Amino acid sequence: MFWRLKYKTWGMDHGLSKRGDVLLKIINQRKPRHFLEIGVFTGVTAKNICMLLKKLHGNDYSYIGIDLFEEIDNEQVADEKAPKILQTAQCLIESVYKFLEGYNVRLYKGNSTDLLKNISGIDTVDFVFLDGGHSYNTVYSDLSALTKYVRKDVTILCDDYAGIASVTEAINDFAKDHGFKVVIHDNPSVWKFAEIIR
Ligand SMILES: C[S@@+](CC[C@H](N)C(=O)[O-])C[C@H]1O[C@@H](n2cnc3c(N)ncnc32)[C@H](O)[C@@H]1O
Repeated sequence: MFWRLKYKTWGMDHGLSKRGDVLLKIINQRKPRHFLEIGVFTGVTAKNICMLLKKLHGNDYSYIGIDLFEEIDNEQVADEKAPKILQTAQCLIESVYKFLEGYNVRLYKGNSTDLLKNISGIDTVDFVFLDGGHSYNTVYSDLSALTKYVRKDVTILCDDYAGIASVTEAINDFAKDHGFKVVIHDNPSVWKFAEIIR
């Protein structure tokens, strides 16, 4: 059956809407079965990924998502420069589970770097999308934990390269410190996808 790789937003004002098609295309090329996303937020990308995995593998796939799953505070919502999605975002773990109902999903609440070592099945993951905390230290420590706990042949794709200085620097430093390569996957926005090649 013909199926277009079109990133859906379910009417939400979503940051990945301009580059989501490119993300889906990369995932479709690699055809992973066990996916890990760090930084789930409302689950919009998670749902796009689950739909694709289901098309590719029927019921034989899994999605693991890690996030702080915290309530957005009123101050953030009141800031007029804040993205519109914050006003309506449902990002508590219960809401995200509900939004992803019907898919093979496991969600973990907490700090990604701390959680990674205790996630069962982490050794079966074959694609990681890193889009969690965007500070230098969080990106660097997530990458360090990932390379410790996921298999060597796993795709590790990071969001927001080039668009956010702390993310770009952490990825570049991490790759340099470990002798890994960074490959940029271009897309129509300033926030690029960077793949870590080990
Ligand atoms: C840019 S959003 C993720 C968007 C999501 N990937 C999508 O495309 O819909 C970043 C998320 O990372 C989460 N986050 C920030 N720091 C984190 C940390 N240290 N551990 C786990 N999640 C974190 C935030 O709660 C937020 O939901």
